[in-house]
Amino acid sequence: MNKRFEKNVVLITGSATGLGEACAVRFAEEGADIVCVDINERENIKTVEDCKKLGVRSVSFIRNVTDRSGADEIISSVIKEFGKIDTLICSAGLYTGSSIEEVTIEQWETIIDINLTGTFLYNRAVAPIMKSQKTGSIINISSMAGKTSWEASFEYSASKSGVIGLTRSMAMELAPYGATVNALCPGNTLTAMVKSVARQIGDRDGMTAQEWLDMRANDCPMKRLAEPWEMAGITAFLASNDSRYITGQSLSADGGMVL
Ligand SMILES: NC(=O)c1ccc[n+]([C@@H]2O[C@H](COP(=O)([O-])OP(=O)(O)OC[C@H]3O[C@@H](n4cnc5c(N)ncnc54)[C@H](O)[C@@H]3O)[C@@H](O)[C@H]2O)c1
Repeated sequence: MNKRFEKNVVLITGSATGLGEACAVRFAEEGADIVCVDINERENIKTVEDCKKLGVRSVSFIRNVTDRSGADEIISSVIKEFGKIDTLICSAGLYTGSSIEEVTIEQWETIIDINLTGTFLYNRAVAPIMKSQKTGSIINISSMAGKTSWEASFEYSASKSGVIGLTRSMAMELAPYGATVNALCPGNTLTAMVKSVARQIGDRDGMTAQEWLDMRANDCPMKRLAEPWEMAGITAFLASNDSRYITGQSLSADGGMVL
């Protein structure tokens, strides 16, 4: 594979599974050193080992993205060890969904804290690095739920719309320094998260998880769900020299769901 990212350092939150893991492997295949941040120790170490097998350096940090000092501490340790950060991908996230009668303030706060504040903390911590490097890319993983909404997805949709707003503002801040900041808005992508949503909502609506997944695939103009590697390819484009004039955008990759 083309080594577009040789000598680059890429920091990924949510790297243990799903989209984050797929991004780690994709960037490692293209030659980048990979810093993996997640709360799932076993799976995060597996991602690191997979990256190392591809011949690059990789390290694991086990930290909750909501930890208020975590991003600053991790980023300063990465700078000591690797000297720079070329790309930040914020993929750590969680889904919950309940009716307006059932959604609790704790549920609301948890989702906003992980999906939005966690993303903010890593964006804020990496900003001075990218300013001083005068280059860099940030890719924040939002969702099609950041651009549209369904019933019973208050906290998730609000958190993902927040990520889009944060991305625009960060893009304005970093544009004079040559760094780009974009959001990726995936549609339903076959990961642990979507399978757990399928079980939760399927159960609620009297369907098996597979029936729910088939229904979601059929709702989509392309009549299929996405695979994590498809999202990883888009993040690679957004981190590459081919996209240096794209910033502040929220790019949908949802098979035509939100048009
Ligand atoms: N799969 C989809 O259909 C889909 C669609 C749109 C957006 N997204 C978004 O993509 C991102 C990745 O989701 P995924 O589908 O790969 O799910 P996933 O569950 O496979 O991956 C999420 C990762 O984030 C980690 N994580 C969760 N909370 C964390 C925390 N507090 N601190 C550190 N790490 C934490 C998990 O351990 C896991 O490794 C999420 O932000 C999600 O909202 C997913």
